[in-house]
Amino acid sequence: MLDGDLDAEIRRPPHQIHGAQGDEQRDGPPRARAQFLHYGLQTTCGCWTATIGVIAIQGLLWSGDYGNIDRPINAKWSENVSRVLPIATVTAALGEWASGTGPLYRRLADGLEAAVDHGRIPIGAGLPPERHLATALSVSRSTVVAAFDALKRAGRLEARQGSGTWVRGHARPPDEGNLELVEELEGHAILRDLSGRPTQTVEFTAAAVDCAPEVTTAIVGLSGDEVSMWSRGHGYSPQGYEGLRDVIAQRLTGMGLETNTAQVLITSGATQAVLLTARLYLEPGAPAVLETPSYAGAIDVLHAEGARLLSVDMDSSGARTDQLAELMTRSLPRMVYLVPDFHNPSGVVLSQRRREEVARLAADYHVPVVEDIVQRELWLDEPPPPPIATFDPDAPVLTVGSMSKVFWGGLRLGWIRGSETTIARLARLKAVDDFGTPAIAQLVSAKLLPQIDTTAAWRRTELRRRFEVLEDAVARHLPEWTCPRPAGGLSAWAKLPSPCADELVRRAESHGVAVVPGSTFAVDHNRHTDRLRLPFVAPPHVIEEGIRRLARAWAEIDGRDTVMPPQSVVV
Ligand SMILES: Cc1ncc(COP(=O)(O)O)c(C=O)c1O
Repeated sequence: MLDGDLDAEIRRPPHQIHGAQGDEQRDGPPRARAQFLHYGLQTTCGCWTATIGVIAIQGLLWSGDYGNIDRPINAKWSENVSRVLPIATVTAALGEWASGTGPLYRRLADGLEAAVDHGRIPIGAGLPPERHLATALSVSRSTVVAAFDALKRAGRLEARQGSGTWVRGHARPPDEGNLELVEELEGHAILRDLSGRPTQTVEFTAAAVDCAPEVTTAIVGLSGDEVSMWSRGHGYSPQGYEGLRDVIAQRLTGMGLETNTAQVLITSGATQAVLLTARLYLEPGAPAVLETPSYAGAIDVLHAEGARLLSVDMDSSGARTDQLAELMTRSLPRMVYLVPDFHNPSGVVLSQRRREEVARLAADYHVPVVEDIVQRELWLDEPPPPPIATFDPDAPVLTVGSMSKVFWGGLRLGWIRGSETTIARLARLKAVDDFGTPAIAQLVSAKLLPQIDTTAAWRRTELRRRFEVLEDAVARHLPEWTCPRPAGGLSAWAKLPSPCADELVRRAESHGVAVVPGSTFAVDHNRHTDRLRLPFVAPPHVIEEGIRRLARAWAEIDGRDTVMPPQSVVV
C-alpha cells in the first residue's frame, strides 16, 4: 500500500474500506494521528496494517456508543450514528480548520463541512453545544453560531428542538431529487397542466392572453433574406441580438428611460429575467422583499432560489414604501421585486410619489430593485406614471419587460434593462442557463415591437369589454362578492364575504372551473384567504359560464342553491 492510502482509508465509510483505492486529498485532522499509527504499523504487512490502523482510528474518532438510532437516516454507512459527538472528537476531526483566509466563522463552517465530507464527522451525529465548542476552539460563541447557521442554510446541519445541532443525512434517496420543492411548487401552481393543452374546464387560472393576430402575420411574413440575415454565425447570443436590443432600448428611451443597446439583455420571458436577477443577488437564505400579494411566478422563482421572503403590504397607491423603508434598515434585504404597473394580481398602480421613494431607497441603501413592468401597456383607464428607474438614473433599478402580455407568452421573450455592468454580469449568468433565447423568437419580436402601440390599443379595447362581462356576471350570480375594477392588467382581485377561498377553489374543481385562491399570491401563505384572482382574458361566453360554475360551487359553501344549470362551453 502506498503512503497516503491510509489517510484515504480513514475517511472512507467502513463499507468501502477493504480493497478500495484511496484518492482523496491528504489533509485534515486525523492526519497526524493517522501517520503516527501508520508509521508504527507500516513495517509489517501492508494491507492488514492499514486496516488495523483504520479500525483503531475510527475507534478514536467515533468514541461513544452509537448503537441507539434516534431516526432513520438514508446514508447507509452512518445509519448507526445518532448520538452527540464528544468535543475531542469534533476538534480532532476539524484539524487545522483556522488556517486560510476569510472570516473565521466561514473557515470553521468549511472545516466542519470538509470533516463531514471526508467521513471524520459522521452523518447523523450530534454536535456539541455551541458554547462548549467555542471554548474548546478558543473562539467566541458567535463564531460557532454563525458557522452553524451558514451550514444550516446550506442544508448540512439541522437544529432539532431542544436537542441541539445535528449533521443532516439524506431525507430521502438522492435520485428522487428535491421533491419537497417540487411538491411545494405544485401545491400552489397557476399552470396546473404543464403541457398547455386546452381542457373542458373553464380555466380562470393563468392571466395570459391568446396570441395576437400580428404574431402569426409576422411569422408567416418572414422573408428568406430576413431569416438568413439573422441566422448568420453560430446562433448563440446570450445577451441577445443587437437589432432587437436596439428596438427595446429605443422604446424605453421613448418612455423617458434613456437606454443604450448595451443596457439591455434579452431573456426567455420575464420569468428568466427575475430568475437571473435572483441568481445574481441572492444566496440561499438571503432576504428578498416583495409586495403581498405578489405575482406567484416571482414568488416561486425567489423561493426556488432559496431566498428568505419578506413582504410589504399594498394599499390603493401600491406597495407601502413606509414598510419598505423600515425593512431596508431592519432586515438588510439583498433584492426587492415590485410590480408597479397594474400589479398582478391586484391591478393597482404604484403612485408617482412612491416610485420616487422606491428609487431613493434603492439608491440610499444600494439595494437592487427589480421593477416588473410586463403589464405596462394594459391600462383600462389611463397609462401609469414613468418607470421607477426614471426617477434616479444612478439607483440600482432593473426594469423587466416582456412580449407575453401584449403579443403572446408562447414567444417566451422578455428583457432586462439595467446599468451596462449589471447587464454584462446577468448575460454571463444567462449563458450558463441557456446560451441565449431562440433566434427566431428574437427576430419575430424585433419585427413586432415597433407596432406594439397599435396591438396594445386593440388589446385594451378587448380587455375592457371582457372585464365588463366579468363584472356584470359576478354582480348577477355572486352579488355578495365585490369585484373592484382594476386600474389595468389581466385580472380582477375579487373579494369574498369570508376567508373561504381555498375551500371554494377545491369545490369549484368539481363544477368544472379552475380558479386560483388569493393565498397563492401571499408571500406568507396565511393571507389573502378571502380573495380570488379572476382573469378576464377568456372570450365573453367562457367568462360568463365560468362565473355560473363558480356560483354553483359558492352555493355549496353559502348553503344556497338558486343558480342556473350549467351550459356547455368550448374553452
Ligand atoms: C407580473 C408578471 N411578471 C412576469 C410574468 C411572466 O412573464 P413571461 O411570460 O414573460 O415570462 C407575468 C405573467 O403572468 C406577470 O404577470
